[in-house]
Amino acid sequence: MSRIVSAALAAIYDSRGRPTVEATLELASGARGRAGAPSGASTGTHEVLAFPEGGVAEALERFRASVAPALVGLEAADLSAVDGRLHEVDGTANFSRIGGNTATAASVANAIALAEETHRPLWKVLARPGVDETRFPAIVGNCLNGGRHAIGGPDIQEFIAYVDEARPEDSVRGAVRVHQLLGEELHRRYPKHALGRGDEGGWVAGIGNLEALELLAEACARVRDETHLAVHPGLDLAASEFCSDGKYRYQEQTLDTEGQATFVARLVDRYGLKYLEDPFDQEAFDAFASLTRAVGSRTLVVGDDLYCTDVSRLREGLARHSTNAVLIKVNQVGTLTDTFATVDLARANGLATVSSHRSGEVPEGWLAHVAVATAARALKCGVVGGERVAKLNELLRLGRAIGT
Ligand code: PGA
Ligand code: ZN
Repeated sequence: MSRIVSAALAAIYDSRGRPTVEATLELASGARGRAGAPSGASTGTHEVLAFPEGGVAEALERFRASVAPALVGLEAADLSAVDGRLHEVDGTANFSRIGGNTATAASVANAIALAEETHRPLWKVLARPGVDETRFPAIVGNCLNGGRHAIGGPDIQEFIAYVDEARPEDSVRGAVRVHQLLGEELHRRYPKHALGRGDEGGWVAGIGNLEALELLAEACARVRDETHLAVHPGLDLAASEFCSDGKYRYQEQTLDTEGQATFVARLVDRYGLKYLEDPFDQEAFDAFASLTRAVGSRTLVVGDDLYCTDVSRLREGLARHSTNAVLIKVNQVGTLTDTFATVDLARANGLATVSSHRSGEVPEGWLAHVAVATAARALKCGVVGGERVAKLNELLRLGRAIGT
């Protein structure tokens, strides 16, 4: 095993053209790891801060002055010691001094260097206890964008194809096909309208929430008929983004919490949703709980902004039975070690985990390894765009390398 001999941080761009960081770590053996960190747009209030005040420039300066010297000399194989050192150097509760994206890039780069040094795939380096053989994740494929990811689209942020097949090649194929059919149908219905793509590669169309869901459900049904794959519609409402003063403000209607619960439960039944993320505001633990009681046997109810991958918020959700699944985004908490604390707690309590991209992504595939290493129920990812396809293609490679 070997020690970290050098650590560098550099500025790169994410898929929205915004600056982010990538870390490169080198070990005494000569093995190297490089990883970039993504960025969100509909970030939860309880996430760590991606960058210090002063942005990427300040992150680079602090890395050079204090993070790199603190990492050099550490044993790369001790992932939690490396991640612990990142916390020590930072010294704040939310990575506001060095930046959560710096922590993510360094943490993942170290794991990648270790994988290279030990000639193991990254997912094996990261595998959680009990994950010794693989159960491949379903695909949560974002096909139509709204909310903050698509100006002029529906209020609901993501219209999703949930494809739950044993083999990644089948799950990915199903999601890609829904995206294609949806584009064709939008073009057929609105031949004179430009058809754009949102931040996560889903279509952008100036249509209402229910029309979008209708179109999605039809496309899923067609793909089911055509391929016999387990393809079902899903939504990420990202409801905190259109909730204010306890009211959910859609283009078409304004609902109080009870009205929202009734509305969403009806959508689950009417459209056969199998995936439902953030249907309420990020503090509404109890509203989540009653909805999960009502529809949780028929669909995943997933907390994203609700938990922010934070172990203490997940503990709160478990105590109140808020959801049956938790979204996992490494840079919401900073390091892999923090992420795994949340994953392990979820697994110990029978909650499904969903490994997720961010809306601003880097064209790297390590997220697929995190999904497999944690036996995630699903990998949440866009369907098209190089930065999304990088993750799907990596999952396909894993399927070929270790699948049955
Ligand atoms: P974000 O959103 O990456 O913009 O935070 C993604 C999501 O809400 O799932
Ligand atoms: Zn979300």
